[in-house]
Amino acid sequence: MTTKGSCGDDTRNIIGCPLAGVDHEELLDASPILLEANRFFEGNPDFYNLPRKFKITITGCRNWCTYPEINDVGLTAIRRGAETGFSLRIAGGLSTDPHLAVRLNAFVQQHQVVPVLKGVAEIFRESEVLRENRERARLKFLFVKHRWTADTFQSELENRIGFHLDHAVPETPPDDVYRDHVGVHRQKQPGLFYVGVAVLRGRISAQQMRTAAELAAQFADNQVRTTNMQNLLIVNVPEQNVHALANGLAAAGLPVAGSPFWRGAIACSGSEFCKLAITETKSFSRWVVEELEERLPEFDQDLKLHVTGCPNSCGQHWIADIGLEGKKIKSEGRMQDAYYFCLGGAVGLHQGISRPIGYRCLASEVPDAVERLLRHYLDQRAPGENLRKFFARHSDVQLREYLAGKFVPVAERDPASGRVPHLVEG
Ligand code: HEM
Ligand code: SF4
Repeated sequence: MTTKGSCGDDTRNIIGCPLAGVDHEELLDASPILLEANRFFEGNPDFYNLPRKFKITITGCRNWCTYPEINDVGLTAIRRGAETGFSLRIAGGLSTDPHLAVRLNAFVQQHQVVPVLKGVAEIFRESEVLRENRERARLKFLFVKHRWTADTFQSELENRIGFHLDHAVPETPPDDVYRDHVGVHRQKQPGLFYVGVAVLRGRISAQQMRTAAELAAQFADNQVRTTNMQNLLIVNVPEQNVHALANGLAAAGLPVAGSPFWRGAIACSGSEFCKLAITETKSFSRWVVEELEERLPEFDQDLKLHVTGCPNSCGQHWIADIGLEGKKIKSEGRMQDAYYFCLGGAVGLHQGISRPIGYRCLASEVPDAVERLLRHYLDQRAPGENLRKFFARHSDVQLREYLAGKFVPVAERDPASGRVPHLVEG
C-alpha cells in the first residue's frame, strides 16, 4: 500500500484479498499478479492524468471480499478445466449514480492481466467525454450516460490490446450477505487457522490495537491484517491456540461472533474526519447497533447496515440491506443530522442497487424506524423467507409505512450536497 498519488486522478491502491495465500478455499493466490499490476501503474506518468480516480481489484478469493462489483475493474479468479484465470468486470462505482460493474465475455489468462488493465486504463484516459464534467468523470459514465455496452467496450478493448479475449466461462457469484472473513477458519497450511473479528463500524482504540498485536504475538506469528469490511484478521494460529486467542480478543471488545447488527454495520469516516460529510457516522452507528441489539435480541438474519455521511457513498449504502445516507433536517429551529433510507441492496448472486424508499428521519429516530421494519419482517415472514426476499416482495409504499409506523408521503432524497471542494475530492 502506498500514499503515492492518493486523491489524484490515477490508479488507487489495487486491492486484493487479505487472506491471499492463506485461505484454504481460495482459487488462486493472486498476490504476484496484483503486485505486478501495481508496479506497472504506481508512479507511471502515462496514467497520472486520468479523467478521475480509477479503482482496481484482483482477487483469488471465492467470497469476492474486495467487491469487484463496485470497482472500475474487477478481476475474480475462475477455473476453466485445470486452468485458473479471471472473470472481468468493468465500470462499477457508487456515489450519487451507483452502477454495478458489467461482466465482459472474457476469460482473462493470468499473463493477460496487465495488458488488459493497461487497455482499460487507456480507454478511460482517452475518453474525452469524461473530461467535460468532473462529477461525471468515472468510467461507469460511459455506460450510464454515453450508451456504451459490454460489447462496445469489449471490442474497443480488444482493438487496443491487439488480441481477442477467450470467451467467458460460466460463473456462480457468491451468495453470502457477508464477505468479511469473520470467524475461525482453516487455512491451506495444515494445522493452522485464521481468526477474523468484527470491529464495530471500523473503529478501534489504541488499547484494542495493542491487545490484538500482543495476542497475535502470543498465539500466532505476529501478523494482524485488515479487511475491506473494516475487520481484523489474525493468521497462522495453531489449532491449540484458537480458543485462547478468540477469548482474549472477545475480552478486548473484538468478538469473533458478534450479533448480525454488530457484524454487518459499517460506517464511513463522517464529519469527525471528512470535510465532505453532512453527518456524524461513527458514534451514530455504534449507538444504533447497541439499540438494536437490546431491542431485537431474537433477530436471526444476516444483515448489512451501512451508514454513509453524504451521497458519495464511501459507506456503500447502495449495496446494503439497510443503507442510510446522511442528510440534514431542520427540527426544533436548528439543522440536525438525519438519514435517508435505501433498502434491499446486494452484491453477488442477487446483486442489485438498494431502493431509495422515500423515507427519512432524524438520526435520533433511526433505531425506532429500523426496529419497526425488522419487527414487521419477524412477524410476517413466510416460512424460510429471508430478509432479502421479504424486502423484494414489498412495495416502497409498504416498506416506507413499516419504517414510519404510519402512512407518510414520499420524502425526496435531496442528494445535492453542493460541489465537491477542489483538492479534497477523494
Ligand atoms: C475521509 C475522506 C474521504 C473522502 C473525502 C472521500 C471521497 C469520496 C468521493 C468524493 C467519492 C465519490 C467518487 C465519485 O463521485 O465517483 C467516494 C467514493 C467512495 N469511497 Fe471515499 N472518501 C473518503 C474516505 C473513504 C474511506 C476511508 C473509504 C474506505 C476505506 C472510502 C471508500 C469509498 C468507496 C467504496 C466509494 C464508492 C465507490 C466508488 O464509486 O468509487 N472512502 N469517496
Ligand atoms: S461518504 Fe461522504 S462523509 Fe463519508 S467519508 Fe465519503 S465523502 Fe466523507
